[in-house]
Amino acid sequence: MIEIINELDALRARIGEWKHAGQRIALVPTMGNLHAGHHSLVALARQHADRVVASVFVNPTQFGPNEDFARYPRTPDADAAGLEASGCDVMWLPSVDTMYPHGAEHAVGIRVPGVTDMLEGAHRPGHFDGVATVVARLFNQVQPDVAVFGRKDYQQFAVIRYLVRDLAFPIELVAAPTRRESDGLAMSSRNQYLSAVERPAAASIHRTLLAMRDGIQSGRPRAEVERNAAVQLQDAGFAVDYAVVRTAELAEPDAGDTGPFVALVAARLGRTRLIDNLEFDRV
Ligand code: PAJ
Repeated sequence: MIEIINELDALRARIGEWKHAGQRIALVPTMGNLHAGHHSLVALARQHADRVVASVFVNPTQFGPNEDFARYPRTPDADAAGLEASGCDVMWLPSVDTMYPHGAEHAVGIRVPGVTDMLEGAHRPGHFDGVATVVARLFNQVQPDVAVFGRKDYQQFAVIRYLVRDLAFPIELVAAPTRRESDGLAMSSRNQYLSAVERPAAASIHRTLLAMRDGIQSGRPRAEVERNAAVQLQDAGFAVDYAVVRTAELAEPDAGDTGPFVALVAARLGRTRLIDNLEFDRV
């Protein structure tokens, strides 16, 4: 049976028991409304630890004022059932007051400079400060030996790597592959915002990423590849925030770079903003 814990004292007591028994603990941070992508993270966490904690917390500090915090889907009962089926021991389900007892506005925050200035960071000011802050809190609450994040949020994983490195968290990070629908659309809690007309069009993000990879691998100039990608997305009805090719470290590649690369897209279809990426080598 999965145990659902809402209070920090109870969480600490359970973690303390496990640590006392010498057990290795994994954390899978989520915002809930879990799908097969999240469940695959839990299954991967199982392989790295004796106990798995999944946190379910829609974190207000990582949403901008005009973003979807209020309407973000909250489905804790279904989440608990899905987590239990995928082998999770504890669902850590704190309220906003439990996570930010002195108010989110004035809480100590963490900023990860550099990597957060570009791409998602540039389009969502303050977003990664909120992510880094809540993940640092989760790390201190759960004190995991290992934490699992998805490659779907490529830049987020980079932010977490710097967080762990610079604040010396004694935590091993594991990156999980992106789970996709059969037409290539990356699974996301936000996919359910898509209308019946938008849903098939959304798969063009993955097709565009494949075309970006093919373009670079066949020697086309990066600027041309990125321009074509933006056009392909616009033709499918998207408003494009970015469609770029970067090095694995998210730097702008030089002409002679041979990879590994990552193509990253963020684009809006109606009111729904989707992100995805594809990692590849030049050949
Ligand atoms: P959320 O969007 O719920 O995602 C939780 C974790 O699931 C993240 O590590 C994300 O990369 C991963 N994930 C999402 N879709 C996936 C897919 N299709 N395949 C594989 N993994 C996928 O990311 C967040 O929450 C938050 O920012 C959080 C880290 C919890 C901090 O609030």
